[in-house]
Amino acid sequence: MTDSPRTVLVTGAASGIGRAVAAGLASAGYRVIALDRDPSVGEVAAEIDAVAVVADIADETGLAAALADVSALAPDSSESLDALVNAAGIGDAFPVEGDLAVYRRVLEVNLTGALLVTRAVLPALRRSTAPRILNIGSIQASHAGGDSVAYSASKGALHSATRALAVDLASDGILVNALAPGFISTPMSVLPDGKYEFETDWFRQVYVDNARIPLRRPGTADEVAAAAEFFVSPRNTYVTGAVLAVDGGMTATF
Ligand code: NAI
Repeated sequence: MTDSPRTVLVTGAASGIGRAVAAGLASAGYRVIALDRDPSVGEVAAEIDAVAVVADIADETGLAAALADVSALAPDSSESLDALVNAAGIGDAFPVEGDLAVYRRVLEVNLTGALLVTRAVLPALRRSTAPRILNIGSIQASHAGGDSVAYSASKGALHSATRALAVDLASDGILVNALAPGFISTPMSVLPDGKYEFETDWFRQVYVDNARIPLRRPGTADEVAAAAEFFVSPRNTYVTGAVLAVDGGMTATF
């Protein structure tokens, strides 16, 4: 266990799970770098005393330029980055004959974006005494919904990349894991008509009344953040290449 405060970079920190992870880690004493393409990340960062970075994780050049302003990440810095949480993601529906631009964008953000951020911060992570990477995947990596070819493929590949990175980065002492959230109440769960999908009759009937989710409710972003805290902490010394479902038991059923 290190005594000095740990520094973590959280992507997708303006909303939902990324925001809850950033706030949870700030409360736990981490110095947080909060990244999002949405400029409102500045307000979130101000609330939790974090450094805000506005960048699109799928834009390699823009990302590098934005991260160059963060002192802890500079090549000659004496500081380290201790953890990276890749939470930024998009859930756009892609019907199989739909616009391929949507398919490409979902993969660019959810898969390639996570890799681009990882590559950008690796030198700073290598300066840490206990470096950790946590990717936010999804149970949709293994369980498909409608119009989810792009999203499911992106998350399945992210889980695979998590295992491959765990192997490649083990020699640097970097532990790499993923969380696979189930139904979590965040802005991503809002339907086009503005309703939360958890408020619909079908959700209540299938997932609550019939206990398709054994815990009979959606999860909260804070519950995902609680699991994240273990994986990025120095208390995790031997779990790497793992994917943990945070889904109220949903994928334990058939
Ligand atoms: P959200 O929509 O509330 O938050 C996602 C954040 O990522 C937003 O602030 C958005 O601006 C940011 N973002 C999106 N594309 C970006 C880009 N190119 N560059 C930088 N920032 C970008 O969604 P939520 O629910 O918090 O999702 C977070 C992660 O959790 C995503 O990877 C999502 O796929 C995953 N997830 C969410 C579940 C849910 O039920 N809400 C279930 C399983 C996984």
